[in-house]
Amino acid sequence: MTDEQKLIDRASAAREKAHAPYSNFRVGAAARTKSGKIYDGCNIENATYGLTLCAERVAIFKAMSEGEREFDAIAVVTDTEKLTPPCGSCRQIIWECCGDVPVILANLKGKVEHETAAKLLPRPFDRSFLK
Ligand code: THU
Repeated sequence: MTDEQKLIDRASAAREKAHAPYSNFRVGAAARTKSGKIYDGCNIENATYGLTLCAERVAIFKAMSEGEREFDAIAVVTDTEKLTPPCGSCRQIIWECCGDVPVILANLKGKVEHETAAKLLPRPFDRSFLK
């Protein structure tokens, strides 16, 4: 099995744990560190809606709370024909926390598309402006 497929499989498995009683839209994500460790996450919804956490941010923040700072890829899995790209907030977090990593979009039927953090977030605001 390829490293990419391993990442997708972890995101798919995490998706099973999604807490999405309001949208029923279940998302799984998996972030891989440069050392090869994978941290996964699912979306966790909230009755206020606005406090909902996306799967991507859960995966990245789980990793960062364990001390991880260097990433080399992230995968996002949904059960949709049209693959799901990260929302705007997650694009910002992916860019800031992971840099210009490959963003792998996949569904449960084996469809895969490749993006990059820089392509998803052109002209980003980041720490380079905070001088
Ligand atoms: N969601 C994610 O977890 N990641 C995405 O990339 C898109 C949206 C979640 C948030 C919410 O729980 C549900 O999908 C519907 O927006």
